[in-house]
Amino acid sequence: MSENNASPRVAFFSGENIPLELHKVRIVQKLHLRPVERRLEAIREAGFNTFLLETKDIFLDMLTDSGTNAMSDQQLGSMMVADDAYAGSASFTRMQKAIKDVFGMSLVLPVHQGRAAENVISKTFVKQGDVVPMNYHFTTTKAHIDINGGEILEIFTDQALKIKSTNPFKGNIDTAKLKDVIQKYGPARIPYVRMEASTNLIGGQPFSMANMREVREITRQHGIMLVLDVSLVGENAWFIKQREEGYSNKPIIDILHEMCGLSDMIYFSSRKVSSTRGGAIATNRMDLFNKMKDLIPLYEGFLTYGGMSVREIEAMAVGLYETTDDTVIGQSPSFIRYIVEELDAAGVPVITPPGGLGCHVDAGGFLSHVPQSQYPAGALAAAFFIASGVRGMERGTISSVRDKNGNDVLADVELLRLAMPRRVFTLSQVKYASDRMQWLYQNRELIGGLRFVEEPAVLRFFLGRLEPINDWPVKLMEKFRKDFGDSL
Ligand code: F0G
Repeated sequence: MSENNASPRVAFFSGENIPLELHKVRIVQKLHLRPVERRLEAIREAGFNTFLLETKDIFLDMLTDSGTNAMSDQQLGSMMVADDAYAGSASFTRMQKAIKDVFGMSLVLPVHQGRAAENVISKTFVKQGDVVPMNYHFTTTKAHIDINGGEILEIFTDQALKIKSTNPFKGNIDTAKLKDVIQKYGPARIPYVRMEASTNLIGGQPFSMANMREVREITRQHGIMLVLDVSLVGENAWFIKQREEGYSNKPIIDILHEMCGLSDMIYFSSRKVSSTRGGAIATNRMDLFNKMKDLIPLYEGFLTYGGMSVREIEAMAVGLYETTDDTVIGQSPSFIRYIVEELDAAGVPVITPPGGLGCHVDAGGFLSHVPQSQYPAGALAAAFFIASGVRGMERGTISSVRDKNGNDVLADVELLRLAMPRRVFTLSQVKYASDRMQWLYQNRELIGGLRFVEEPAVLRFFLGRLEPINDWPVKLMEKFRKDFGDSL
């Protein structure tokens, strides 16, 4: 077995195909599953926005995997030996070495989280009138490019937005579109092409190495930089190993090196990739490093901490190495596959194939009677919380913006994301979420739309408050009581 680098597989005698946890739980946090009446009250108090709920009312927090992955004993231990030096901290040296070892990049700029990296990169490279082609935007990525006068161009393939698909790499860039865009705008207006690993907003969908190689070749021919968002790169590498020919026996670290080796620059939210907090930008190109580095002390902190606690920096270094372990990086996608397959078999519309980050329920299909102008993904997030106490995240038109005339820019897809932070939930908890979702699907006609009552101008999904268009939440609560009796 020593030469075998395939992901470990555990078969059950019963033939059941269930993921097995290859870790044990050593620190626990008590959860509260409130009665349905309180869940309704709580979501009302939160303005029907799951971002505004409080932990005291939440059973399973599937809002995000950002900063919520379980940390390992090794990570927690490392936090005790952090070096507090303002400048020249040994903790930073260890983090720099981890980034070099895991991603193969030696010039590192620390930042306080992923969007701070986006601020520095966009401020440095994006000018008025520029366009930035990418497989798909992330909310904060788009906001930072917009604010610097640029425009994002999404050049995904015709598979990307299909809810039900067997395409293993829906995160691919359409290379014909990339060539057209370069032809149309010219390389001078394209500061960089961005690829996002395990493309978040289309359902955590990976791109293939073959696609990345092609994108690299096209950008190289035109002297255009390739920037890789590696916030969810571990999962993307794991999918390449599972799904792409020639990779099933490659260590994850080799796949990571190959991906990063095709990029001029990488950046990440370590809230995701290393199960900590913080972030960084890394490159091997001194010219790029020098262009950005003065912005770090201005916006983040000195070059050896970048706004992060040194304890987080230590844990990040350990977490990056752990991201190269199949049993760490494969855990969340295996649980996601489990719930996606259960829901799919029950007829609930979910994004397939299963991706990284979470299970994505197609609220557009689920609530086909709720018009997009009444925010079906937001309505489903609120309804699911009432039905289960599970907090998901709206990823639809509420997460979009308004145009110059004040009209909603309708999202391409209306999704409710149930994030699966690494090694946090047990399989019975995942089964509970699936069970309540199946009940909700049987009762979907009871769910109605939402409208804004308070709407912030920027990133409105975080703090916006909404109300139901009629008393549908009460009817849903009453049906729950009728069907479940005195069950929580
Ligand atoms: N890039 C990607 C692909 C992300 O998913 C995120 C954050 C960021 C950048 C920004 O990083 O939050 O550390 O500033 N995603 C979180 C989520 C917020 O819930 O999906 P950040």
